[in-house]
Amino acid sequence: MRHVLTPRLQLDAIVADDLDEHFALMSDPGVWAHLPSGQHTDPTQTADGIRHSLGHWARDGLGYWTARLRADLPGTPLRAGAMVGTGGCARRVGTSWWNLYYRLTPPAWGRGLAAELVGAALDAARTVHPDLPVIAYLLEHNVESRGRAERSGLSLVWRGPDAGNPDPAAVRLVYADRPLAGPLLEQVAAHH
Ligand SMILES: CC(C)(COP(=O)(O)OP(=O)(O)OC[C@H]1O[C@@H](n2cnc3c(N)ncnc32)[C@H](O)[C@@H]1OP(=O)(O)O)[C@@H](O)C(=O)NCCC(=O)NCCS
Repeated sequence: MRHVLTPRLQLDAIVADDLDEHFALMSDPGVWAHLPSGQHTDPTQTADGIRHSLGHWARDGLGYWTARLRADLPGTPLRAGAMVGTGGCARRVGTSWWNLYYRLTPPAWGRGLAAELVGAALDAARTVHPDLPVIAYLLEHNVESRGRAERSGLSLVWRGPDAGNPDPAAVRLVYADRPLAGPLLEQVAAHH
């Protein structure tokens, strides 16, 4: 699962050398319009995330990828080999579900690239451990993210306040690829 190809993306397990490309993405305010407090201001924040990713891959044989273009993306300045995003399915420490994640650089939006990444992530999760549900956490006002989750076949299973968000009015949604039984749903809802 470390190296997967979709029609337009090359997906590679995140490695420590990806730091500069990931910091460029994670420090771009354009990818944090719905959660400004999430923007990275120092590469050490990005390095922490990469460390977690290395742990996911080492433990489960699956985690988040770095997504690069296989060919120039028509109508954009993005060229073959450019890092256009990150995401995939990973099992966070202490959880018994796959967390589905996706984040692309804004010039790549609106072309169905997230659909390719998410499709590969769902296939991978269902190959590595199909018994674990796939969960996506997102903010209600993030319409792009909601659309992607819904068109990927996930359904809303929980809605409530977004604990820890500096915006007290923020609403968190939880999507899942299957119905969740009571105790698991409580764990999923409690986790951030
Ligand atoms: C959420 C996010 C990943 C979506 O990326 P994306 O690539 O634009 O998403 P999609 O794959 O759904 O494509 C979007 C649209 O492009 C369309 N599209 C255009 N050209 C296409 C093509 N050649 N092939 C397929 N679809 C195409 C899709 O149909 C879709 O349109 P629709 O919304 O009307 O159905 C992106 O907006 C993002 O990174 N946001 C910021 C980070 C974030 O919030 N992440 C989620 C955190 S929970």
